[in-house]
Amino acid sequence: MTKKYIIANWKLKLSLSESEKLARAAVKKIPKKLVSKEIILCPSFTALPAVQKIIKKSLLKLGAQNAFWEDRGAFTGEISGLLLKELGVEYAILGHSERRQYLNETDEMIHLKIKSVINEGLTPILCVGETFDQRKEGSKDYIIRQQITTALEGLTPSLSQKIIVAYEPVWVIGSGQAVEPKEAEYTHQVIKQALIDLFASSLVLKNFPIIYGGSVDAANAGEFLKQETIHGILVGSASLQADEFAKIAQS
Ligand code: PGA
Repeated sequence: MTKKYIIANWKLKLSLSESEKLARAAVKKIPKKLVSKEIILCPSFTALPAVQKIIKKSLLKLGAQNAFWEDRGAFTGEISGLLLKELGVEYAILGHSERRQYLNETDEMIHLKIKSVINEGLTPILCVGETFDQRKEGSKDYIIRQQITTALEGLTPSLSQKIIVAYEPVWVIGSGQAVEPKEAEYTHQVIKQALIDLFASSLVLKNFPIIYGGSVDAANAGEFLKQETIHGILVGSASLQADEFAKIAQS
């Protein structure tokens, strides 16, 4: 896998005008020739059309922070892959730990969401990771394998369909203290093995980029991206400053 993914998760942190301002700054500060990187901005739903307009002629891509598992129907308040695609969205973050924690998203729900966005031709970014307690009791690898298996088992992605898996240790998110790249690399091997148990290994090697997220900033991004098994990074807080994010993108 040659391309590295740099994904900005803006969470629920910016107003519409702040999102527009940050998107404009990102387009200006990120060099146009970064062809070895796929750089994806994931603003709030309400800012998607405006951000899409701003990044349209740049190399930046658009992602959403969630998607529902049905295209249409009596599902008040939900947004589907079908509607996101209409806005030019190409990626969807699914199963982020904040949604698992605050909205009780389960691996089964995440499975349905992945299936649905794949049908629309979007690329899911499946987030997995252990809590501090799970890590302390030594069940980290088991938890991660289980998250992967329930979310992806039974899916039949096409040969061109990519599914990104983001390893995000829950206790590290927003803490300012990332795990050591070597540790992330070890967990990426665990994830890769779990994927190989579900899909042909040739497909896993080609179509399942495994990325790291959790307190990535301009100071540590390079270390993560240097590891062969780490195919990119998911960036929260540090993606909210254009200069910092541009540095990360160039790491
Ligand atoms: P963080 O967030 O970079 O602020 O730790 C990452 C994420 O939640 O995806």
